[in-house]
Amino acid sequence: MGPIQIKKIVENAHVGESVTIHAWVRTKRESKNAVFIALNDGSTLHNLQAVAEPGQLSEATLRQITTGACLKVIGTLVESLGAGQSVEVRVQEIHIYGTADPDEYPLQPKKHSLEFLREIAHLRPRTNTFGAILRIRHALAFAVHKYYNDRGFFYLHAPVITASDAEGAGEMFRVTTLDMNKPPRDEAGKIDYKEDFFGRETNLTVSGQLEGELGAMALSKIYTFGPTFRAENSNTTRHLAEFWMIEPEMAFFELKDNMDLAEDFVKSVIGYALEHCVDDLDFLEKRQADEEKSKPQQERAMPLSEKLRFVVDNPFERLTYTEAIDILTKSKPHKEKKFQYHVEWGIDLQSEHERYLVEKHFKKPVILTNYPRAIKSFYMKVDDAAPGVPGPTVRAMDVLFPGIGEIIGGSQREENYDVLLERVHEVGIDPENLWWYLETRKFGTAPHSGFGLGFERLVQFVTGMGNIRDVIPFPRYPKSAEF
Ligand code: 4AD
Ligand code: MG
Repeated sequence: MGPIQIKKIVENAHVGESVTIHAWVRTKRESKNAVFIALNDGSTLHNLQAVAEPGQLSEATLRQITTGACLKVIGTLVESLGAGQSVEVRVQEIHIYGTADPDEYPLQPKKHSLEFLREIAHLRPRTNTFGAILRIRHALAFAVHKYYNDRGFFYLHAPVITASDAEGAGEMFRVTTLDMNKPPRDEAGKIDYKEDFFGRETNLTVSGQLEGELGAMALSKIYTFGPTFRAENSNTTRHLAEFWMIEPEMAFFELKDNMDLAEDFVKSVIGYALEHCVDDLDFLEKRQADEEKSKPQQERAMPLSEKLRFVVDNPFERLTYTEAIDILTKSKPHKEKKFQYHVEWGIDLQSEHERYLVEKHFKKPVILTNYPRAIKSFYMKVDDAAPGVPGPTVRAMDVLFPGIGEIIGGSQREENYDVLLERVHEVGIDPENLWWYLETRKFGTAPHSGFGLGFERLVQFVTGMGNIRDVIPFPRYPKSAEF
C-alpha cells in the first residue's frame, strides 16, 4: 500500500527493478556527465541517489530541484558506483510536487545549531539528526507497549483532564471554559467554578497514577502511557511542561518487585533500541564524537552504544536514601564545600547530589529507596519503625541515570485506609476530593506498587542528546508553544 519506502530499497534492492520514489531533495550536484540528486523520505537515515543525464531534464525542472523540494521520481534501480550505496535510481521521469525557494528555505545542506533548529521545529524533522531521534523515539514507544503486552499488563487510558493533583505539588495547568474577562463570582466574590464546564475546578493531569491504581485494583497489572503536564517554571535541559509518562501499576507487588520490574523494563527497551536502531544510533554516536572533539580526552563521554550496552549489561546499584546521605556527607565535594546545596538527612536531593552518586561514586545507574516521608507524595507506603509503628521514611524508589538524573520515580503504595487518610490530612489534601481513591483502600485493598518513567528522559538517554527539548517533536516549555 502506498509508495515504496527508501528504507525497503536500501535494505533489499533488486537491480533492474522499476521504482517510483516520493521524497524530498537533500542535495543536488551537477557534473558534465550527470545530475545527482540525493533523496530522503524519512524512512531511513540513508539517502537514495537519483541520477539523470544532462539534457534529460528541462532547464526549468532542473532549476526547481533544490534542497527541500519534494519530488516523484520514476526510474530503474541500477548498481551504484558511488561510495556508501549499493544501488541508485536511473531517472526516467521527474515530477515536482513542491518547490523550495533556496532564498527562503531555512535548511541548508550543512550543520545547523540545535538552538536554530528549535526555532524551525516545523522543518527540523527533515534533518538527519531529528530524523534519527524521531525514529528512535518511535522504536522506544513500540518497545514499551511490547514489553508490557508480553508480560500480561493492560494498557489503561488515564484521563488527561482531572480534578486532582496526584503529586500534590500544585504545578497544574487549569482547564476552563469560563470567560476570563468576566468570570462568574460566588457570594464571597470568588470565581464560581460551579458555573464552569465540569462544574468544578479542573486541570491537565500531572500523572495518571491515581487512576492507574484503580485499574490495578481490578486488572492486577496495568500501565498508562500518555501525555502529562506540569507548570513548573524550570528552564532546565531535563524539564518539559508537556511530557509523556509510562506508569505501570501492579497489585501484589512490593517495593523489591517494583525495583526489579523497573530495572528489567528500562534495560529491555534500551536493548530493543540497540538491536533495531543500529544506523540511527551509529549516526548519533558519530555526531556526539564530533561535538566532543574539542574536549580533553578524559572529559569526553563514553561512546553512545558503549554507554547503552553498559547499562543493559550491569546490575543497577540499590541503596537507601539514608545510605546515600552517608556517602554524600563523607564525599570530597561535601568536605570541600563544592556542593551548592547543603547535605543532611531530610533534604530533597539536588541534581548535583544525584549526579555525584551516579557519575562519580558508583559510575552506574542507581536505585535509591526509603526516602523521608516529608519530601515524598502522600500515597507512598509508610515504613514501620517497629511493627505497627509508623517511621520517618516511605517505600519510595527513584532510579537515577548518568547524565540524566532521575529517570523513574515510584513507590509501594499505602494500602492501609487509616494510615493513608492520616497522610492525606498531613499534607493538607481535602479527602472529599479523593473519596474515590480512598475507597479502593476500603473495598478489597491489596498491597500494590508502581512507578513513572519519563519517556523524554529515556529518549534523551538513548539518543545522547543534551537537551530534552530536542527529543520531542514539538516541545512545550516556559514561553514556548509556537508549533
Ligand atoms: O517522580 P514523578 O513526579 O512521579 C510521578 O509522577 C508518579 N505519579 C509516578 C508513579 O509512581 N506512577 O515523575 C515521574 C518521572 C520522573 O522520574 C521523570 O523521569 C519524569 O517523570 N518527569 C519529567 N520529565 C520531563 N519533564 C518534567 N517536567 C518532568 N517531571 C517528571
Ligand atoms: Mg520524582
